[in-house]
Amino acid sequence: MIDKINRRMNELIDNMEGIHENLKDSMKYSVNAGGKRLRPMLLLEVFKGLADDDADNVLDYACAIEMIHTYSLIHDDLPAMDNDSLRRNKPTNHIVFGEDMAILAGDALLNTAMEILIRLIENEETKKASALIASSSGVSGMISGQVYDMKKAESVTELEHIHRLKTGDLIKCALVAGAVLAKADSKTIEKLSLYGENIGLAFQIRDDILDVTGNEAVIGKPVHSDEKNNKSTYVSFYGIIESEKILQDKVREALKAIEGISIPYLQTLADFITESDR
Ligand code: IPE
Ligand code: IPE
Ligand code: MG
Ligand code: MG
Ligand code: MG
Repeated sequence: MIDKINRRMNELIDNMEGIHENLKDSMKYSVNAGGKRLRPMLLLEVFKGLADDDADNVLDYACAIEMIHTYSLIHDDLPAMDNDSLRRNKPTNHIVFGEDMAILAGDALLNTAMEILIRLIENEETKKASALIASSSGVSGMISGQVYDMKKAESVTELEHIHRLKTGDLIKCALVAGAVLAKADSKTIEKLSLYGENIGLAFQIRDDILDVTGNEAVIGKPVHSDEKNNKSTYVSFYGIIESEKILQDKVREALKAIEGISIPYLQTLADFITESDR
């Protein structure tokens, strides 16, 4: 499945009309740098688990989400933001292509994703899924989270809010979009949404922990980036041990929310976040 996502993302970029070669190189550099592909996998696996249909039919949705995620990482690493020089075990986009091209490659991945999402609209479900991905990654979701993250969170309440927005919303929307495209009933969508909220928060808590305890070669990005940038994190508020406990609680809540839904990947992701070193 990951191979299919990778192939299709490259194809979608290659097919962009009039694309400048330098821009294409910069976009493809980050798209092909690796990445766990958790968000596109979530969309595809939820769709496959709920629809009596081939997940290939919603592959472009999965690619659009991963393009949005990849753009967010390119911009997140810029000197004006987290100023990091390693991502997915490679020099960050701006280190290789310069800040100007990195900004534009991020813009282009976002815009390409939006073009794909518009192209896919043909009925109520596809319209809903496209709109949801656009809004979850936009000013009511991920982008706002990144804005709030620029200022140090003063309380755990503020920090949780940032994490839910900057990381949780895109993860949740991958689940919900998969379910909407599968024409799932509202009860199922609600359950997946609650799983997404909890698993998204757990995912960012794991990221905060790995920023301190991780191995650079394994996480593929610098350790102590948060400390360098004077960020509040779960670790800075609670320490490692308590953060681990909160993470486990969130994973448990996530799994409780989807009792009765049989989509094996949801358990796989929960296990991954529980134990992950990357
Ligand atoms: C990193 O996400 C950014 C966060 C939201 C913490 P991932 O850990 O999914 O990054 P890749 O795609 O595998 O590189
Ligand atoms: C960024 O969070 C989340 C995004 C929306 C990009 P981080 O800044 O903690 O992500 P990493 O640790 O650089 O991957
Ligand atoms: Mg950041
Ligand atoms: Mg960062
Ligand atoms: Mg981080």
